[in-house]
Amino acid sequence: MATSRKKKTIKIEDLKPGMVFTSPLYIDDENILVRANEPIKKTDIEKLLKWGIDVVYTDGDLIIEQNKELKKNIESKGNKVLQELDDIKLHKDYAKLKDFKEEFQERIITIGSILRRNFKDLVEKKQFNNHEILSEALYLTNQIVEYRFFPLLLLGIRISDDVIVHHSIHTACYGGYLGKLINLSKVRIQDLVFAIMLMDVGMYFIPPQLRQKNYPLTEKERRVFYAHTIYGYKVLKEDAYVKQPLALVALQHHENFDGTGYPRKLKKEEISLMARIAAVVDRYAAMIEDRYHRTAKMPYEAMKVLLSQEASHLDPRILRFFVGGMSAYPIGSYVLLSNNYKALVVEGNIQSPLRPLVKLLFDDSNKIIEDLKFLDLTKEPTVTITKVLNPKNEGLNISQLI
Ligand SMILES: [Fe+2]
Repeated sequence: MATSRKKKTIKIEDLKPGMVFTSPLYIDDENILVRANEPIKKTDIEKLLKWGIDVVYTDGDLIIEQNKELKKNIESKGNKVLQELDDIKLHKDYAKLKDFKEEFQERIITIGSILRRNFKDLVEKKQFNNHEILSEALYLTNQIVEYRFFPLLLLGIRISDDVIVHHSIHTACYGGYLGKLINLSKVRIQDLVFAIMLMDVGMYFIPPQLRQKNYPLTEKERRVFYAHTIYGYKVLKEDAYVKQPLALVALQHHENFDGTGYPRKLKKEEISLMARIAAVVDRYAAMIEDRYHRTAKMPYEAMKVLLSQEASHLDPRILRFFVGGMSAYPIGSYVLLSNNYKALVVEGNIQSPLRPLVKLLFDDSNKIIEDLKFLDLTKEPTVTITKVLNPKNEGLNISQLI
């Protein structure tokens, strides 16, 4: 390489970090300082100064001078475009969910009657249509995977008059959503949904008066109640031909992470992953359901119990995903913001459980906001949730405000 071939001589004082040339920059006949199309680094210029080199050579042209200002400008334009794309997607995803709500809520009632019939057949005739339940579990899994705001579909649903059926499907939906939050494959989510749908079948072997009892159980009654896990496991294995890992969820969903659960007082990883996931959603769903002897807790109160009384019973890593993904103000909560707007929590944030994505419902003069307007609290540091409101106190049916 002869210096004569290089048309331009560039003085060191004219070089700036971030400059890019179409051809290499040479120090001398042999040595390249920076290759073509690569930005000059501050350290390259420092090297030249150190070596006492005053000029470099190139036969290329300067194509970009990436000073900080320009870079910032490009980045901010890029971020703006990305933000706009995010907003468009958010509105599209939400509109899709709204369109689907009615169809889903009808379909889930059908799933309730299918499960009810299969439970009855299993308990009375030892018959069970494994294939039928599996295909309903697949249907639910498809919706969980497809719909970004899936938990909103569960607000205010009444799946079945049979408390066990209602709880089983309700819990399976949250279980599948938690599976999605922890990035399980679709096949594993389907397994989870299927296993949770069936895990309380043993309850049918417990006398109804015991299931509905409104005061503390005696020691003997408690032992009978605890046995629903064993009855369920046995009937699923022996009469329903459910695979061992899935039937195990029935046996282990009341085991506690700290070893204080039942029936075998297993602890930590002795409990299968699916049963540890099921335990989290089982507790949560039960608290937000109406029962014989009590009304449902608000999602926020249920989450508080999970994080306090139940925390040592649950796998902390799985609980963290649930609290983040659902938000500490769980999806479906009606909240007051520090700017006096009222909003519905629509999506959690695993990194920031206290700063979910919300849909604005009423402005600061309590005027209803008709258009779809969202606020991502992770991007609005000055706005916080100040209070969780009870929609019933304002005569509102929150599921209609989706
Ligand atoms: Fe149970």
